[in-house]
Formats: sequence, structure tokens, C-alpha cells
Amino acid sequence: MERASKLPNRLASRRSFLRAGLALGAGAAGTAFVGLPAFAKTQSGINAGDAAILRFLAAAEILETDLWQQYNELGGVQDGEVPGGSGSPTYTKALEVLDGDMPQYIHDNTEDELTHFRFINAYLASQGAKTVDLDKFRTLPSSKATGAQQIGRLTNLMQLTVDTSYWTRYRSRTKNPDFGDTFPPAVPDLAHGKFPAIPRSDKDLTPSDHIQAIANTAGFHFAFIEQGGTSLYPSLAQRVTSPEVLRILLSIGPTETMHFQTWFDKAGNAPPLTDPTNGLTFPDLNAPPLGGEDFQTNLIMPEPTIFLRRTFPVVSIIRPTETKGAAMAAATGLTADGLFIGQSEEFFDVLRGLAEAADAARKES
Ligand SMILES: [Fe+2]
Ligand SMILES: [Fe+2]
Repeated sequence: MERASKLPNRLASRRSFLRAGLALGAGAAGTAFVGLPAFAKTQSGINAGDAAILRFLAAAEILETDLWQQYNELGGVQDGEVPGGSGSPTYTKALEVLDGDMPQYIHDNTEDELTHFRFINAYLASQGAKTVDLDKFRTLPSSKATGAQQIGRLTNLMQLTVDTSYWTRYRSRTKNPDFGDTFPPAVPDLAHGKFPAIPRSDKDLTPSDHIQAIANTAGFHFAFIEQGGTSLYPSLAQRVTSPEVLRILLSIGPTETMHFQTWFDKAGNAPPLTDPTNGLTFPDLNAPPLGGEDFQTNLIMPEPTIFLRRTFPVVSIIRPTETKGAAMAAATGLTADGLFIGQSEEFFDVLRGLAEAADAARKES
């Protein structure tokens, strides 16, 4: 994840304006609220910092749900647990090249995100704290491919720039992003340009290497999203005050890690190919110039690496987990991913406001 110092323009442009708004207690515009004075107690218990952290997490989970729902409509299992859509058999088949169980995993990941945001919002309400509702920002278009619902979306899966450096970050024994280290991407092409991770219309279903490239992009994107959650929860947990709020973060966070490891494993099965329509190349991760221990596709557990101080022995850990600026880093990472292309200024204001409030939260003794 990038740090707040590298904010994309959309998030950085109106920061000072928003800060002024927050200082006056005006909160973010729209249907999300960050209006409580810092560290004030809510009516029945949790302090404003805990509420701000939970609200940012609720927003992140709503956004995750929106993107997973789009994947599920076209490539997952559509049922009563995750309603909507009727599936795209050609896209689903391409996803199944990565693993025969992909539709089930997509379904289960989608349901998990739904429960995450519903639970966090319900808990906020139980504490007399404001909840998060982003419905007014459901303005982005759906895929026109057969199988997708035609409804407004919060996220855009059709112009993604996917950072696959998690691949080498979790395989490094000597580097840690919390020490300022950077990592090369597994799929360099995905870091440049804008690529669909779902078919934009039925035209994207052929030729076969094109729809497979779209499914491969999705496979690497799944792991990108879930590595973000894997870091976000432990990063924010360090600044919550209430033992019960800490319990919520420590109980949801590791499910993000379960998702991440699943997708980390499946992405390794993405077949090497070049998309004939745009040149997007998925390299053979087991062959030169890649290959070697950093890239081999059967590595799905974290390699031990440096943590806290270089003088300590290496240790197998989640990384990054730096708490300073963690919410803004997550918002920045999702924005850089292209998920919000087409969203309004007001949307970015709300997202920034929620992230700034969460990052202002401090653990109280
Ligand atoms: Fe989640
Ligand atoms: Fe997740």
C-alpha cells in the first residue's frame, strides 16, 4: 500500500478545505458523517475515535461488497445468500482455469463483505454512533455483458491498474514496506494502463485469450483487494480504545487474511498469455527472468521478514501494519487501483473525510 504522502490528486486536491470543514464539525458532505468532536463519547459508550475507525471500515466494506457483488453476478454463484445477476458462462469458465472452485470462493468472499459492513454499521448504531451509507454514490455504470444486473455501482471494475507487488512483498525475507522498502510487481503490465477485470459487454467474451486475460486480471485483483484488508485491520486496531471494538477488528481482520491467502494461491494458476487486443502480458511466474524463490507459484504463506527493528530475528508477519496514516493509505490504494474512476468530487470528499477522521483517532487509556 502506498502511504498518504503519495495521495492521488483526487484525494489530495481539497484536503485543506475538508480539514476546515471537519474542524467546524461540519463533517463530510452527503450521507456519511464525521461530525462528532474528537474523542467525545457517543451516547452509550465508544468514543469518537473508535466510531471514526469503525466508520472508515464500514465504508471500506461497503466498497468491497460493491465490487465483489459485480464479480459474483458474472463469475460467482448467484443465490439467495448473494442475490443478483445470472452469470456469464464464458467468463466463469475462464475464471475456473485458475481453480474449479473460483465461483464458490467469489460467492463466499462477497457474502463475507456483506456481513462485515452490515455488522459494523449495526454495532455503530447500537452505540448511538452515526452509521455509513454510500447509496447516493451508486452512480457508476454496470457491465453490459449478459449476466450483470443493470444498476448503479459504487466501483468501476472496467479500468483497473492493478498493483501486484504484494506477490514479491510477501515473499521477501529482507524487506518490509514499513521500513520504506518497495517491491517489484508480479505482472508489470497491470501496473500501467487500464484493464477490465470483468467483461464490459459480450464483445469481451472473445477471442479466448482476451477473456482469459480479463479473468487473469480479476484473479490478481482479488488478492490485491484482500491484502489491503489484511493490513488495514491490524493497522487500525493499534489505535482503538474499547476492548469490544478491538475484538471486532481482531475478529474480522483475519477473515480478510483468509481471503487473501486463497486468492494468492489462485492467482498463481493464471495461465501465461498475451491479450491479442491490447498486448497485456501475463508472464510465466515460474520461469526466467522471474522464477526463483520470490516468484514461484506454490509459495502462498508469508516468508519471514524484518519487523520493528532490524536487530530482531526475522518473523512471519502481515505487512504493512504501520498505524500512522493507515486509513488514508487504504483509500489511496483503492483510488490508484482505478476503482473510483467516474466518481464525483463529493464521493472523494466523503472518502477522504472518513479516512482523515479514522487516522486522527488515538487510543485512550
Ligand atoms: Fe471485509
Ligand atoms: Fe475483504
